[in-house]
Amino acid sequence: MDAPAVLHALGEPSAFSGSPPHWGEAMRLLSANRGLPFLETASLGERLTAAQLPAERLGPLHEVAELIAQDPALTAMATYLYYRVFVAPEHGSPWGAPSLSQVLGSRAGLFYLLLCLEFPKRLAAYHESLGYPAEVTAETVKQIGCYEANHLRGAGGPGVYPPQFAWLTNYFVSPFVRHGRFEYQLKAYGGGVQVFRRASDGAVIALAEGGQNVDADGLLALRDTSPAFVTRLDETRDAVVGFPVLPDGRIVHKLVRLPKTAYTRCLAKGETILDLHIPAGGAMDWDSMVTSTAQAHEFFARHHADRDIRALVVTTWFMDPRLAELLPATSNPLRLQRATYLYPTGPDPESLWFVFLRPIQSANVAELPGDSSLQRALKDFLARGGVWHGGGFFLLREHMAELCENRYRQGFESLANELGFAEHLTQS
Ligand SMILES: CC(C)(COP(=O)(O)OP(=O)(O)OC[C@H]1O[C@@H](n2cnc3c(N)ncnc32)[C@H](O)[C@@H]1OP(=O)(O)O)[C@@H](O)C(=O)NCCC(=O)NCCS
Repeated sequence: MDAPAVLHALGEPSAFSGSPPHWGEAMRLLSANRGLPFLETASLGERLTAAQLPAERLGPLHEVAELIAQDPALTAMATYLYYRVFVAPEHGSPWGAPSLSQVLGSRAGLFYLLLCLEFPKRLAAYHESLGYPAEVTAETVKQIGCYEANHLRGAGGPGVYPPQFAWLTNYFVSPFVRHGRFEYQLKAYGGGVQVFRRASDGAVIALAEGGQNVDADGLLALRDTSPAFVTRLDETRDAVVGFPVLPDGRIVHKLVRLPKTAYTRCLAKGETILDLHIPAGGAMDWDSMVTSTAQAHEFFARHHADRDIRALVVTTWFMDPRLAELLPATSNPLRLQRATYLYPTGPDPESLWFVFLRPIQSANVAELPGDSSLQRALKDFLARGGVWHGGGFFLLREHMAELCENRYRQGFESLANELGFAEHLTQS
């Protein structure tokens, strides 16, 4: 079956926003006629156990496997997604996968959960090739249970959302492991700031990369609004000149000059970092954060000693500095904010999917769930016309070994004084 015919039969002709790439290659798996592992019902129990999912999922998954096997369009789509995520992950995630709600109704999530059962076996093979212990793989596999927990919370039944299934490709293209509360992915830094260390005392300052439109609050400006200023970052033989970012995540409208004799660059776009991911499931208490970052620090030093890892970095909804106006200072995300150096990223209202488990911009704000204090505070924010940005942080590699609050905020005043922007410091 060709892709348009399959998408038409599934009632979602515009899935993937166009023709799904690599369709022909994937369909060769079908014509090879070797049997499709995700449709094998005899091994279902074993695969369920390997995915650390409860035995009561067996019945519903068995049924959905049979539904897929009987329907050529579902078989072709499952084969395509299986190919993209597990066989050829190097092509990137298959974003835009169909919801399948028209053909499978409330069982759509089970289609994706069934495909997820391939994850443990593939991950074990990849991790083994990297020499990782089996316990680390077993911990990383927990992500499937976290995805399922999201679906249980958001849709009221077992399953996995299509974008979360598509994300699994990332576990096969570069080292990606879970240590306790957090996951870590080794990759190149996508940029946003350059980071410098003052040689005299190790104090750290970030400068915004050039060409960013900034609003009056020091956040990145919304598209189609006029910025308060545009950043630049210039380097000469002797110095780097740019706009500083405060550790609480706002860009200051004042050019500063960092002489190369006094400041050393320790992070720039393209350098190796650990990208942090926060699986759903329970609170992120301080001790769990401290333990996890210390374990990851030790793990990557042991297994990837040849990689010059510069920092731990994240981009997520809860690194928006305005979260401090919505949650008490004792809340876990705010403690993590204070333990790291924040910087602004572009407006990203849909990042709040992780809070509401549904699209944000198309939603009627009043109808978003308000079960937790965070959801209620964010609903008020959105009802006032607020646009959520999210944000980024970095934590230099050596600081992962011992997470501590206010590492970058304490003593920042002395840098600001020396560089002449102390009057821009905010209360944080
Ligand atoms: C990040 C995370 C662990 C923080 O949770 P936490 O440690 O419980 O945070 P807090 O202690 O500040 O929680 C304060 C309140 O917000 C609620 N809350 C926190 N995260 C929430 C979320 N994602 N959805 C809904 N409510 C949430 C808590 O239940 C609590 O509510 P209460 O006061 O009514 O009891 C949690 O949001 C989470 O698991 N998120 C899903 C994964 C995720 O967002 N990953 C990032 C993807 S880029």
